[in-house]
Amino acid sequence: MAKTKIAFFCTACGHESPKWMGKCPSCGEWNTLVEELVQKSSGTKDLIDDLVHRDSGRKKTFPQLLQDIVPGQNSRSDTRDGELNRVLGGGLVSGSLVLIGGQPGIGKSTLLLQLAMRYGKTVLYVSGEESEEQIQMRAQRITGDGSQCFIYTETDLTEILSQALKMKPALIIIDSIQTVGNGNIESAPGSITQIRECTAQFQKFAKETNIPVVLIGHITKEGGLAGPKVLEHIVDVVLQFEGDQNNIYRVLRTTKNRFGSTDELAIYSMDAGGLREILNPSEMLISQSDEDLSGTAVACAVEGLRPLLLETQALVTPTVYGTPQRSATGYDARRLSMILAVLEKRCGLPFGSRDVFLNLVGGIKISDPAIDLAVVIALISSLQDISIGKNICFAAEIGLTGEIRGVPRIEQRVQEAARLGFDTMYISKYSPTIKVPGIHVKLISKLEDIFQEIFG
Ligand code: TYD
Ligand code: MG
Repeated sequence: MAKTKIAFFCTACGHESPKWMGKCPSCGEWNTLVEELVQKSSGTKDLIDDLVHRDSGRKKTFPQLLQDIVPGQNSRSDTRDGELNRVLGGGLVSGSLVLIGGQPGIGKSTLLLQLAMRYGKTVLYVSGEESEEQIQMRAQRITGDGSQCFIYTETDLTEILSQALKMKPALIIIDSIQTVGNGNIESAPGSITQIRECTAQFQKFAKETNIPVVLIGHITKEGGLAGPKVLEHIVDVVLQFEGDQNNIYRVLRTTKNRFGSTDELAIYSMDAGGLREILNPSEMLISQSDEDLSGTAVACAVEGLRPLLLETQALVTPTVYGTPQRSATGYDARRLSMILAVLEKRCGLPFGSRDVFLNLVGGIKISDPAIDLAVVIALISSLQDISIGKNICFAAEIGLTGEIRGVPRIEQRVQEAARLGFDTMYISKYSPTIKVPGIHVKLISKLEDIFQEIFG
């Protein structure tokens, strides 16, 4: 009989402690330790060994010279979804363990069921959250063949692994890792010990069999993946599915990728037929109104490796109550405060007595500082109630002294703006010289200069 004991685990970093503490000694977070039952037994460690090498004995590995390693073992397979291929760095690598995190209802199950139905090879879709009928109902809405997709509603790790070994599918999807549990461990599914153990077993399974495994992970209120950070260390790729529940656009970002860049980004729209790839994101991020309205300006940002034009909207009104309100959607609120302070100091604009609301159209979050200049223009445009032309766009960062700084990939940005029919673009004077037919590129060096040129 295996012994059980009580231990405390940090939900942020996975640190184990024999007693409860207010502050985690490993990561320094407060109030993150939770109580769990753990089993002192090594019986769970060799689950895969038992299953895989039941007859053949433990496979031995030997040190190999770098140049002697045969390529092709990490071959990538096409997911039949251009956007997903892009974030994975060119396709799903065999033997890899991928984790997709996101808030409830964002579309994780839809995305992966779509992948399972379109993959074109045998897929085992393990669901611990929904019944077969529920999944079938969802599948009816999605276009895809689905003739090689097996649905398996099971939550026991040993059952899932032995079934997977029997079937040898080309891909395994686990919806979700929080529902899977190893019967040999006494803590409940979803607890840190279980998540850690099951993820480690799937990792081992993927490496031994060369079958890629995709896990769905829930995220906590704070936006981190539920379960300790160690989960992110075990897996090869971490994708984050985000978006505004009230908006149809969804963004899939790579936050870790052992086989490619983490700069990539995929954009989907969720409609009646599932998730649809957005091939031309710029068109959706600019509002369709024909009128010239004050408080809007178009920025050319680069997310991942793609340029996209997006509209920034600002509303500036006199403050009624004591402290002015500042609110930003899709843009860093601290950066907004910094920009308002720079505008007040350099251009003498009275933002200190105004409420300021800022919004990026489409419900998308952008961290590229190149949208600063468009934010500035939208703010001044709203403050002074002067609209700027619809054919102008901006790409530059603002410094604390009011200087207009250059941003990378400027040529790509100007080309994208020209392609979408913009005739004037303001960029930093310190950018390399660019000539693109059909668009007039204006160079500026100071905030005061652009203020004079557009609103003067
Ligand atoms: P789901 O994949 O269940 O989210 P998650 O697994 O991340 O919790 O997505 C659920 C939402 O997606 C649900 O609110 C309905 C919506 N949806 C559509 O709009 N169209 C569709 O074709 C499908 C399948 C779902
Ligand atoms: Mg789901």
